[in-house]
Amino acid sequence: MTNFDERAKDWDADPMKVERARIVAAAIRSALPLGPFDKLRATPGTCALEYGCGTGLLGFALQPYLASVTLADTSQGMLDVLAGKIKAAGAANMHPLRLDLCADPLPAARYHVIYSLMTLHHIPDTAGILQKFHAVLEPGGWLALADLDREDGSFHGPEVTDVHHGFERTELQSLAESAGFGGVTFTTVYEIPKAGRRYPVFLMTARKGT
Ligand SMILES: C[S@@+](CC[C@H](N)C(=O)[O-])C[C@H]1O[C@@H](n2cnc3c(N)ncnc32)[C@H](O)[C@@H]1O
Repeated sequence: MTNFDERAKDWDADPMKVERARIVAAAIRSALPLGPFDKLRATPGTCALEYGCGTGLLGFALQPYLASVTLADTSQGMLDVLAGKIKAAGAANMHPLRLDLCADPLPAARYHVIYSLMTLHHIPDTAGILQKFHAVLEPGGWLALADLDREDGSFHGPEVTDVHHGFERTELQSLAESAGFGGVTFTTVYEIPKAGRRYPVFLMTARKGT
């Protein structure tokens, strides 16, 4: 496993990661029915779970459009950096949570939206995590997953052996449908430049039936 605890403090210093999160946030906003959250409205607004949030680059870009967002990660280092940023920004609707849906009991809360960026390929059991996402979504809730298209293993290099080498879209769609999702759609939202190559990133959106 990549040591995300060690990498957390320098994570936001990479302009590509900042740009990637900004562009993926714009794609999620245009694909999902998120509106600006008006704190004066009586309606509760959209409650979201970000899974594998890292330092919250994507979460900060989306939080103005969410009533509340729980930002979950397994790396305490990432969560510590995130907590400092939330405190500095006074972002009262952002809630960090140490959570591993692969091992921990399901949280009691249910969400209108679950979204994730570059985390799915770190989770061994893709079918299993999609089932967990389905279970913690409200009926009619939206899933938005951004990750690598299938690549040859060069993205992480031969020394990293515990990751998926991206995903075949048709295979991921089948797994999502088997987990109970419908309306599965893919778009290419970004290309990660690395060592003279470019690695496409898809956004898959899907919906839990009502
Ligand atoms: C490549 S980083 C992406 C971070 C962030 N989404 C971004 O784009 O800047 C992957 C993140 O997934 C987290 N992660 C890995 N396995 C996880 C799991 N089983 N559950 C939750 N988070 C996990 C890591 O700690 C790390 O923060």
